[in-house]
Amino acid sequence: MSQEKVTGHGKIERNVGLMAVLIAAAISLGGLAEIIPLMFQAEAVEPAPGVKPYPPLELAGRDVYVREGCYNCHSQMVRTLRFETERYGHYSLAGESVYDRPFQWGSKRTGPDLARVGGRYSDDWHIVHLMNPRDVVPQSNMPSYPWLAERTIRADEVVRKITALRKLGDPYSDEDLAGVATAVEGKTELDALVAYLQGLGRHAPRPGVDAAAGAAP
Ligand code: HEC
Repeated sequence: MSQEKVTGHGKIERNVGLMAVLIAAAISLGGLAEIIPLMFQAEAVEPAPGVKPYPPLELAGRDVYVREGCYNCHSQMVRTLRFETERYGHYSLAGESVYDRPFQWGSKRTGPDLARVGGRYSDDWHIVHLMNPRDVVPQSNMPSYPWLAERTIRADEVVRKITALRKLGDPYSDEDLAGVATAVEGKTELDALVAYLQGLGRHAPRPGVDAAAGAAP
């Protein structure tokens, strides 16, 4: 057995408890160094131009999207890679998601990214597709969601959601709240989900028109 003196690094490497604590400290500090600056960056915390809180029907549709777990197969984040922007459109900006709680970026793509799907198909296409995807895309393995057509949106629930979001700082006005009943009257969860999908990417920067478009990521 060697009798060398154990100092510095050697001491840490021979003490599992101490090493665990120091590893945790190093990872936490690294994490904070990445996260804290983001909290103060306007680009990440302020809405991108034109981005507003979800209108009542879309807000209800967003909750259907989350409840049904659409994010298990669909991301909502176009990455800054050429083949992505050519397929989907402008890459996603943090400021497009400031009213998303929780955000739906994700990375699981059994199906295509949906961040820019708004306006790509008609409402009727979405309705048929959600009722039974194979009616419009024969080889699709996306599940059917027929029950969405049978459930109606409850205005009182949407009012509660908007009231909660207002407390979190989303700029909904009293008129927005007053308009909820009319906006969701007689609408099904299917209508709400389609409205939500049709709104996705509405505020994406347009190349050649908006300042953010074409700017380096
Ligand atoms: C098991 C995985 C899976 C789940 C869960 C899923 N999808 Fe899909 N989705 C797919 C696949 C695969 C496609 C591509 C084939 C097709 O169009 O049906 C697709 C396509 C789509 C498209 C067309 C996108 C485009 O650009 O052509 C939309 C819109 C869509 N899904 C919405 C939804 C919504 C809303 C939900 C939740 C209610 C959902 N999906 C749940 C797998 C899934």
